[in-house]
Amino acid sequence: MTLEVHKDWQKILRDSQEDPGGWIEFPNGLRQYFLFKNEATGASIAILDFPKGVGIPVKHAHASNQAMICMEGEYHYTDSDIVLTPGSFYSNPKDHPHGPTMAVERSVLIEFYDGPHYYDKPSFHSDDTYKTTLTD
Ligand SMILES: [Fe+2]
Repeated sequence: MTLEVHKDWQKILRDSQEDPGGWIEFPNGLRQYFLFKNEATGASIAILDFPKGVGIPVKHAHASNQAMICMEGEYHYTDSDIVLTPGSFYSNPKDHPHGPTMAVERSVLIEFYDGPHYYDKPSFHSDDTYKTTLTD
């Protein structure tokens, strides 16, 4: 069962590569591809693609519960010394401070939120990238 689910995610990742216009590009090189958005609740599922050396630069919290599956790479939560590698599952309760983070290698993560990502625009978002998170 687990292996079959992983194969499904691998297919979703391949399909996303065939839709280059669907990716949101951040100034630091991070790319985000939304697979699902619930406009009413702010819940979402997205692919995150961090280049090597890029991460979220500050400790922060989310306005909803967050979970991630690491598909590729090595993604480091530098303060708590948690390292995600392919197959790792990470969850982060609403309002729990975490980060900063750093992609030790290019890292691809599937990210789930059960509601809005943030209460207010964080410092690492521009107006353009923030509006994609359904926090309005
Ligand atoms: Fe976060």
